Amino acid sequence: MTSPLLTSVKLGRYTLPNRVVLAPLTRNRAAAGYVPRELNAIHYAQRASAGLLITEASQISPQGMGYPNTPGIYTPEQVQGWRLVTDAVHGKGGKIFLQLWHVGRISHPSLQPDGALPVAPSAIAPAGEASTYTGMQPFVTPRALELEEIPQIVAQYRIAAQNALEAGFDGVEIHGANGYLLDQFLQDNTNQRTDSYGGSVENRARLLMEVTAAVVDVWESDRVGVRLSPSGTFNSMYDSNRAVTFGYAVKELNRFNLAYLHLVAPRVAGFESAEDQPDLGSDFFRPIYDGTIITAGGYSFESANAAIASGNADLVAFGRLYIANPDLVERFAANAPLNTPDRNTFYGGDAEGYTDYPTMQ
Ligand SMILES: Cc1cc2nc3c(=O)[nH]c(=O)nc-3n(C[C@H](O)[C@H](O)[C@H](O)COP(=O)(O)O)c2cc1C
Repeated sequence: MTSPLLTSVKLGRYTLPNRVVLAPLTRNRAAAGYVPRELNAIHYAQRASAGLLITEASQISPQGMGYPNTPGIYTPEQVQGWRLVTDAVHGKGGKIFLQLWHVGRISHPSLQPDGALPVAPSAIAPAGEASTYTGMQPFVTPRALELEEIPQIVAQYRIAAQNALEAGFDGVEIHGANGYLLDQFLQDNTNQRTDSYGGSVENRARLLMEVTAAVVDVWESDRVGVRLSPSGTFNSMYDSNRAVTFGYAVKELNRFNLAYLHLVAPRVAGFESAEDQPDLGSDFFRPIYDGTIITAGGYSFESANAAIASGNADLVAFGRLYIANPDLVERFAANAPLNTPDRNTFYGGDAEGYTDYPTMQ
């Protein structure tokens, strides 16, 4: 039987050889100045047989950063560093999109320019602790963005999108998932604004739509994707009516005719549903969204094939399996055993647990 996952697919302006996607994976291994380096290029090139690679989240500005040693896309040095990555992936025939990131409140003054407070839609602290250069530290209460500052945020996305184009990427993904800035605006436990960016779902979705419009203006719509996590509770996220909130946002995204919508599935550990809210998977969004859907979260080869065969998704992104299996596509094709990822080397460090997982013999 042929595997639906290993068949070719059209994604925006590209035709991809298979439907396997490298999920965006933060690995905290950038060089000084938050600049991607040769080691990162090796990592991505090792995984170039994926139909599509999506990079780790990359901060669009110094303010958009929330973890140690994550790469940026706002300086000329960072653009040059990313060029190593795009050249290496293209040299092996792959396609790679950059994930654009602003963390909002998921940061810490020690990671912010001049020790400033992180910014957010409203001055509400997340539960838990921030990852800093001196270990875990309690989250602080962020500063609510002034209405006049919001156009500057959109402008940061636009400049970052231009930089990604210059760095030779094939497209960009707007990170609207997992409790970072755009998700903080969308959901009502983090957005209690009373201006045109808060209150109604139209207002809460406004920043996501403005950012999408700016990025599409730079890239054209068929090279832009958006990632959302409608059932995620990671980073203290909650919405009092997630079906309405995300149903509206997804419906609105139709008007951009994007390359894809990337949905994080409900069942991922740490991303699972709050108890009084329904799980919203790609089956919920399929009738609402007119375009290509990538689903991610806890998939195996079998469940990924089933997701595509069901018609509820077009491509499947793999995170943890891809950390440990650079030749994941070849292993799937051969029905070969998979390496097990080592959590201890997920975040930070060097080649160990990053570029040294073996390929099949
Ligand atoms: C180490 C690690 C880093 C991650 N970094 C990101 C990221 O930068 N951006 C993002 O959207 N999701 C990120 N995620 C979530 C993954 O993209 C993916 O949705 C999640 O791991 C579930 O898929 P899996 O079960 O195949 O691992 C990360 C997950 C892990 C384990």
